[in-house]
Amino acid sequence: MLPEQHDILFSFLAILFATFGIFVFGNVIQNCRERGGLNTTLWGGIFGVFALTMFMMTVHMFSLVQADQLKFFFSTYLWVILLLLLTWGVFFKSNNIESQSPPIIRGFFFWTTVSVLLAGYTNWLPQQRSDPPPKEAAVVGDLTMEEFAEMGRVIIFGAKQVAGQKSIGKGQCPLCHGFDPADHMGRCPNLFGVEKRSHDRVKEDRYATSPIPIGETEPAAGIVKGKWDQIPEEYRRQHGPDELVGEDYIRESLMCPTCYVVEGFGGSGDTKSPMPVIVKPPISLSRVEVNAVIAYLQSKDTPGEFGAVTVPLPQDDAGNTGGAPVAEESSDEDAPLFVTGKEDIQAMINKLGCPLCHTIPGVEGAVGELGPKLHEKINAPNRIKDPNYKGKATNTKEYVRESILNPGAYVVFNEEAGESYPDGLMPTSFGEQLSVAALDKLVDFISQTEPPAGS
Ligand code: HEC
Ligand code: HEC
Repeated sequence: MLPEQHDILFSFLAILFATFGIFVFGNVIQNCRERGGLNTTLWGGIFGVFALTMFMMTVHMFSLVQADQLKFFFSTYLWVILLLLLTWGVFFKSNNIESQSPPIIRGFFFWTTVSVLLAGYTNWLPQQRSDPPPKEAAVVGDLTMEEFAEMGRVIIFGAKQVAGQKSIGKGQCPLCHGFDPADHMGRCPNLFGVEKRSHDRVKEDRYATSPIPIGETEPAAGIVKGKWDQIPEEYRRQHGPDELVGEDYIRESLMCPTCYVVEGFGGSGDTKSPMPVIVKPPISLSRVEVNAVIAYLQSKDTPGEFGAVTVPLPQDDAGNTGGAPVAEESSDEDAPLFVTGKEDIQAMINKLGCPLCHTIPGVEGAVGELGPKLHEKINAPNRIKDPNYKGKATNTKEYVRESILNPGAYVVFNEEAGESYPDGLMPTSFGEQLSVAALDKLVDFISQTEPPAGS
């Protein structure tokens, strides 16, 4: 459901409740009229105020979007209704006319219960959020390994998960990787079992020589392959054996993806990894974050069991590094990723992660290779003309919009590789992460992209 939308069920309930408030008011007045001796002004006043309040709360519900509607409904509206029902009961009781309480009251009690349960079930369940993440600030205090690995999980998947949506955190890994044995992500290795295989990788003959030999510097990352003790100071491991271990393989995979390219997953005959260097922009994880991610990767396949984790807790080795720099910003990380459109276009595109997969002219650092080069001014009209094109777009902007919201509508053919780009690799969740204004802005920009002059 778009975060911008009203929730249909809750808007409907609100209207029904407002109507019900007026009905109760009418019923009380009628009862007062039919039976002399009741304090019409008092009761009429009380129930008049109820009806008015509920009417205004319903109006208010319409000024809210989905998540806030839910919050308001459960924190305020529901209690007002329960109070109304209670007061109505008191009215009948104190005036000794409960025997005449219309069947509709009993019906309404039943109906409210059922609908609130139903609403709670359909709307609360998918909204369910995981526990608040251990914030980076918490790193300063004592962490357990479980909390540290949880921090890694949050970096990978984000703090808040909404069922049915792909959850992606700052590390952006799930854009490309699957983590469950059942995930099939096409172009990127499934990270299930990575802890186990990390120990074997460093012993493979292939590791020693391909694509570059141990001891040589990989230019894109600036890392010396297979030398854990030559990793830049601020990321280096402080303790442990002299030989290369599984932890080093995982750290190297993150800091220097091209130091070793998993067979079949690289470009140009497995000599170049399409994975971004995780410690450089746009992802730029700090040392503590890299270690937290490793802790998660080493423990995720054995829930509740942290024996395989070899990275140190931050407080264990902070002293050795002269106080590991701890990145502080984390405030917006607990919110699901959302782009409003007020950001500048470069920031917007980086936040969404498009550069990880696409080369985009005009966006600095956007040299991704898993998807087509975005030259949409030229590509889009050609796609629409393709006899295989089954989408609904009739012009460039419509095509770009369709590609962003529903990438599977047309799967681009990769001329260089002689096969289609992988279907299902581009996330289908961008619709939920973009406001209407942001989507328009993104579509406008991408529709204008063309090959740089002179190429
Ligand atoms: C743009 C897509 C992309 C993103 C984002 C990405 N990766 Fe990768 N990753 C790949 C590809 C492709 C490979 C295989 C080629 C290689 O070995 O570098 C890979 C390889 C790996 C490997 C080695 C796997 C093995 O079986 O040996 C690890 C570990 C890894 N990634 C972890 C991560 C983590 C953790 C993140 C997030 C912080 C991440 N990746 C983000 C595409 C990506
Ligand atoms: C995980 C990798 C990945 C990410 C992230 C990603 N894409 Fe894609 N994209 C692809 C792949 C693969 C294709 C080709 C397959 C297809 O057409 O569905 C594609 C196709 C497209 C196309 C159609 C290109 C053409 O020439 O016909 C457009 C436009 C596009 N992406 C825009 C975006 C935008 C904008 C973003 C960020 C909001 C984005 N993509 C994020 C992988 C990705």
